[in-house]
Order: sequence, then C-alpha cells, then structure tokens
Amino acid sequence: MLAMIVARASNGVIGKDNKLIWHISKDLQHFKLLTSGHVIIMGRKTLDSLPFLLPKREHWVITRQEDYVPPYEGVRVFHSPEEAVAEANKLNDMVFCIGGAEIYKSLMPYADRLYVTEIYKEYDGDALFPPIRADEFMESVRMTGSDETDEVPFDFVIYSRI
Ligand SMILES: NC(=O)c1ccc[n+]([C@@H]2O[C@H](COP(=O)([O-])OP(=O)(O)OC[C@H]3O[C@@H](n4cnc5c(N)ncnc54)[C@H](OP(=O)(O)O)[C@@H]3O)[C@@H](O)[C@H]2O)c1
Repeated sequence: MLAMIVARASNGVIGKDNKLIWHISKDLQHFKLLTSGHVIIMGRKTLDSLPFLLPKREHWVITRQEDYVPPYEGVRVFHSPEEAVAEANKLNDMVFCIGGAEIYKSLMPYADRLYVTEIYKEYDGDALFPPIRADEFMESVRMTGSDETDEVPFDFVIYSRI
C-alpha cells in the first residue's frame, strides 16, 4: 500500500527554497510515529534537504540522473516514480511517499491513502501539494492536532482512495 504524508498550508504551500517553512514539533512527532519502520520514498531534492538519514526508515530516492550517487550510504536509487512504485508493490507493507512537490504529483495516481497535516494559515512558498480530488479521495479521519501552545492551528487528516 502506498501512502503519502505531507504538511500543507491552507493555500497548498509545502515549502520554500527547498526548506520547510514552519517548525511544528507535534507534526514532526506524528511523522516519526507513522513512518518509523517503513520505507520512505522521496525526490532527490527532498533527500538533499535532509540533514541526515532518518533513523529506523529505509530511504528510496527518485532521480533522473543516471550516474547519481546519494549523499548517504544505504539509500536505494530509482530513475522513475513508476519503478519505485513497482518495487513498493512487492512489499507487504505500507510505504510512505514523503515528498516533495514533484514526487507527490507523480505518485498521486498510485496513492491509496494521504496523511495530511492541514495548517490553517497561508504561507508564501514555491512548492505546492497537488489538489486532492473529491472524486478520487474521501476524508476518513480528522483529528485536531494543535492546542493553545501552538503558533498555528492544524488538524491531522486522513484521505482514503474511493
Ligand atoms: N511540507 C511537507 O510535508 C514537505 C515534505 C517534503 C518536501 N517538502 C518541500 O518540498 C520542496 C521540494 O520539492 P521539489 O518538487 O522541489 O523536489 P522533490 O520532489 O523532492 O525532488 C525533485 C527531484 O526528483 C527527481 N524527479 C522528479 N520527477 C522525476 C521523474 N519523473 N523521474 C525521475 N526523477 C524525478 C528529480 O531529481 P534530479 O534533479 O536529481 O533528476 C527532481 O529534481 C522543498 O521545499 C521541501 O521542503 C515539503
């Protein structure tokens, strides 16, 4: 099963200058809890933005560069989203696409479930999450994620493919 996990502003923004814009520690904990123990698939730019490999997760990266050598040992390299999806389908496990914008867009047709942290604020940015089509996904769970100690309100939402 392929899931995508993303934190998205109310105007669809997910990043700027190859960085996350916000720092929401509860969302980082949520991300860690969901993805630990699983394969995570990402675009080459998102891998570049990581300061280190995320513990307890197998990293797969997608790049068009035939001679690409990842910056960390143990990262599995794919040259198309379809190639990564075919390998993911061989696993009897949930695999998480963790971004960024280009890879979310190309893997959206294959995603069974979307874990979306919906942040109730608009941000200025250059990376966007693709629209979630109402004829393809339905909201199956919505939980309030923030409390009065958080700078911005946000919900944890799960969308399931119809
Ligand atoms: N808010 C969130 O939850 C979240 C999560 C993740 C990332 N982000 C943000 O998203 C932004 C990065 O997104 P992005 O779109 O710029 O980069 P990206 O999707 O992480 O990576 C893009 C790269 O993936 C490779 N690629 C894309 N499509 C491909 C295809 N069809 N076949 C083979 N390789 C392909 C290419 O690598 P090569 O150039 O090497 O060929 C391309 O340059 C950052 O701002 C980051 O902070 C936000």
